[in-house]
Amino acid sequence: MIRSVVTGSGSALPKRAVSNAELAETVDTSDEWIVERTGIRNRYIAGEGETTSTLATDAARVALDAAGIDASEIDLIVLATATPDQTFPATATRVQDALGCQGGIAFDVGAVCSGFLYALGTADAMLRTGMAKKALVIGAETFSRILDWEDRATCVLFGDGAGALVLEAREVADGPQAQGILSTKLHADGAHNELLYVDGGPSTTGTVGKVRMRGREVFRHAVVNLADVLREVLGDTGYTAADIDWVVPHQANARILDATARKLSLPPEKVVVTVDRHANTSAASVPLAFDVAVRDGRIKPGDLVMLEAMGGGFTWGASLIRM
Ligand code: UT7
Repeated sequence: MIRSVVTGSGSALPKRAVSNAELAETVDTSDEWIVERTGIRNRYIAGEGETTSTLATDAARVALDAAGIDASEIDLIVLATATPDQTFPATATRVQDALGCQGGIAFDVGAVCSGFLYALGTADAMLRTGMAKKALVIGAETFSRILDWEDRATCVLFGDGAGALVLEAREVADGPQAQGILSTKLHADGAHNELLYVDGGPSTTGTVGKVRMRGREVFRHAVVNLADVLREVLGDTGYTAADIDWVVPHQANARILDATARKLSLPPEKVVVTVDRHANTSAASVPLAFDVAVRDGRIKPGDLVMLEAMGGGFTWGASLIRM
């Protein structure tokens, strides 16, 4: 059977790191509040010349290098973002041009913080059905550009960055021990728009808009939805939580990570946490955290890795991968 195998990962961050203390100089907040409520200590903020596509391109180059393949071999780029360089064309096409891999398929996916899971599921389906052979799946954001810096309830939570995976369609033996993406489950419930949204857009206000969130309600939905979709993916593959080597969650809030892990009786040491250093980078957070755990030697060949995310829409999803 054909499976999508992860053959490389990469990530990129803006040059400028911003600590909670630095934020507290201009926003009515404190390091203490941010750390206690979210676990965030630091975030990276894009500067002049740094955009979603430049961060995505940098992350993609690192991932291609890790996979040992040339950009010209890539015939599919799926890029998840809520902060594209332009309303159109897709940021994926800018990345394609910057990498010099014209000719294949390139498009963006919009599912906000779950965007990377949606991109991964889409690319996996396209590889398995033979529409492409080698894909770059990217999550990239410059959320700092759509934050209301006067709204302390949101502006302290987010950061910028990008992460990328190379997926290759490979013929593998059937069964869960074989490498590749074993199962991806995606969901959406459009009834909760008013809990997490941007108050603008090309077709409504003609502006980009700013992020608005009712954090406490989002928090409640996140823990329930994430635990449900993790169980769904485990049920689909026949694994139990005890079989998982690493969970790479969307990095929104350390308390959501803890609560979700507790609901599934997952030991906290199996959960990859980067929210302290990157904050919430929306669609970039899962591949960024994944790349950190590959590079520091935690995620190794043969490991069973669960990716999961929940975000605006609401949208949510999870994917189980044998490395
Ligand atoms: O990535 C997409 C998914 N997003 C999420 O998953 C986010 C989910 N939600 C959360 O992570 C949390 O709800 C937050 C971190 C956003 C907020 O934490 P909370 O414990 O739910 O706090 P809260 O919003 O209920 O606010 C508590 C208090 C309020 O003061 P009062 O009304 O109790 O006097 C806020 O005004 O904290 C105040 N507050 C702040 N204080 C200092 C809100 N933001 C800040 C701030 N600094 N930055």
